Amino acid sequence: MNMKKLLMTLLLLVPLAAPLAQAIDFQDGMRGATPLDQTTQPPPIANTDNSDIKRARNYAMQPPVVPHKIDGYQLDKNANKCMMCHARTRTQESQAPMISVTHFMDRQGNFLAELSPRRYFCLQCHVPQADLKPLVENDFVDVDTIMSKPPGKPSLAPAKKK
Ligand code: HEC
Ligand code: HEC
Repeated sequence: MNMKKLLMTLLLLVPLAAPLAQAIDFQDGMRGATPLDQTTQPPPIANTDNSDIKRARNYAMQPPVVPHKIDGYQLDKNANKCMMCHARTRTQESQAPMISVTHFMDRQGNFLAELSPRRYFCLQCHVPQADLKPLVENDFVDVDTIMSKPPGKPSLAPAKKK
């Protein structure tokens, strides 16, 4: 390699080296400070809320969160433990809220006789809760908060935690 070529190569490599060095320092809210080439220490399993107390939804279409423990509930192609209590025919005995009418609809909006396959895996949308520090910041603002602002003042301060 002649001198000129070597110089050109070095010049090209300098800007590439700087972002690489930064990438190693990269920190992520969920990984914490663990370097990317190492495995994180998993936190202890959280103690999920089992209060049976309904939580307000943040918007009308939100899947309600699960207010009870679901440890050990089988939910796979062979059995759906959730439906043992939440199915239409089980709610009198269980006193659980029935899956709503949308859970019987296919994607064309037709009503089926039973749970729609696209609503079979409940935990895709409904999740248990635990008292933990959020891993990522959230500045969601409730629509009622937006509507209660005087007009002309679109301040989007984060909703107060209840
Ligand atoms: C043994 C019966 C039983 C089983 C099994 C069960 N639930 Fe429930 N669920 C209830 C009852 C009763 C309530 C009403 C609140 C309470 O008592 O916890 C409820 C409440 C809920 C709610 C809150 C609804 C609302 O309007 O806020 C959701 C969501 C829910 N369950 C989802 C699930 C999911 C998902 C599973 C399966 C992983 C499941 N449940 C399994 C009995 C059950
Ligand atoms: C694709 C997302 C999705 C899946 C999967 C799903 N749900 Fe829901 N669920 C929702 C949404 C959204 C709502 C609130 C609006 C509505 O009723 O459609 C809801 C509402 C509910 C409610 C409250 C009903 C009411 O009238 O207050 C219960 C109970 C419930 N779901 C149970 C279940 C159970 C049990 C399963 C599994 C068999 C399940 N859901 C699967 C999205 C889902």
